[in-house]
Amino acid sequence: MISKEEFISRQHRLLSLCEPESVCVIPAAKACTRSRDTTFPFRQDSDFWYLTGFDEPDSWLLLSNHSQFSDPYRAMVFRAKDKQSEIWEGRRLGVDAGLSFFALDEAYSTDELSEVLYEWLGGHDHVYFPMHGEGAATATIMDVCKHLCNAPKENLAPAAMCDVSPLIHEMRLFKSACEIAMMKAAARISCQAHKRAMTFAHPGCYEYQIEAELHHEFAMAGARYPAYSTIVGSGENACILHYTENSDVVNDGELILIDAGAEYYGYAADITRTFPVSGKFTQPQREIYRIVLEAQKQVIDRIGPGMSLSEANTIATEVIVEGLIDLSILPGSVSENLETEDYRDYYMHGIGHFLGLDVHDVGDYQQDGEDRPLQPGMVITIEPGIYIGTDSPVAQKYKGIGVRIEDNLVITATGAEVITEDVPKEIDDIEALMRKG
Ligand code: GLY
Ligand code: MN
Ligand code: MN
Repeated sequence: MISKEEFISRQHRLLSLCEPESVCVIPAAKACTRSRDTTFPFRQDSDFWYLTGFDEPDSWLLLSNHSQFSDPYRAMVFRAKDKQSEIWEGRRLGVDAGLSFFALDEAYSTDELSEVLYEWLGGHDHVYFPMHGEGAATATIMDVCKHLCNAPKENLAPAAMCDVSPLIHEMRLFKSACEIAMMKAAARISCQAHKRAMTFAHPGCYEYQIEAELHHEFAMAGARYPAYSTIVGSGENACILHYTENSDVVNDGELILIDAGAEYYGYAADITRTFPVSGKFTQPQREIYRIVLEAQKQVIDRIGPGMSLSEANTIATEVIVEGLIDLSILPGSVSENLETEDYRDYYMHGIGHFLGLDVHDVGDYQQDGEDRPLQPGMVITIEPGIYIGTDSPVAQKYKGIGVRIEDNLVITATGAEVITEDVPKEIDDIEALMRKG
């Protein structure tokens, strides 16, 4: 859990990054229709969750640093308590309980949203809201601003509209100790699930049955949902980077690529492992696997504060290119391949990304046009891969092999801590675990 005080201090910090005389308006996510009158499981908007830890739809957070207040002034809008709605749809915190639970200055009901926004936005110089957010919320804010422009009293409308997202996203990029604890929990649960999947997998099973094993372990360990759509790709399906059909039978002799991570308290893990369904790598599979593993290990050994993800990618790319040349999969020299980027036929994605409340987490990868150096508190993935499509101009034995190995790392003052080590990736360790299964 993350304390109420930490959420409030995030709100204060956000306000301190805004201009004086500002109001911030942050909407929660809306429930999303699945079909007719059923909805997808509700997932809170990551920015709203980061600032409040509140998991109901249709709520709003309002923050003001207007000079008429001596301290940051904080309010939230809640769905009103309503017996019938609660019988049908579930419990609601409500306005009165919300006021005290979040130690707010004011609390309102969604029924009064337009008037509340009108009151709150009026008299501020700047209004900050997520400009790329959910359309209806943006329209509501714009509508209120329009009304303020036409108000009988002058100068009520904010003179400037500002995007709040970059400010929140820069905060989210640096994880607190509590956030890292949550991410370690997500990582631990996800490692357990990968081990379960490895021991379960056998020729003749279906990819979705392996998916079910992963999701079962997530939920039984306290992480009810995956952080993103689980990928279980057997054989050549491993070469489809975001393969989520997971509908094929797994044949003897094939590799299985699993990219799956649990969401815990909103935080994602993002782990990939590739292993042979028979429990033993064939020689060509072993040759490709070793290159990817070496690329990943070389990056992990050297990564830390000061290095950019782009520099990390260069390290991995060189290992991959050298390995593919040794196997006669790529012609020419390392430098020629780096120049032409022909290796991108086989390694076509980046080395990794920020990780947090979103699996591809927020934060700028570049600053002032330069690649941004990593800093302590950032959490990243390192995930090199080699994917050899069946139509590739290579020896038959390599066709259809797809390998990715992905771990999650916390950047520390001196290097990086791998938080997903509990699931094996050395060939001998994978084969030993599978023998147990
Ligand atoms: N699971 C998506 C990714 O690895 O980026
Ligand atoms: Mn990833
Ligand atoms: Mn992944």
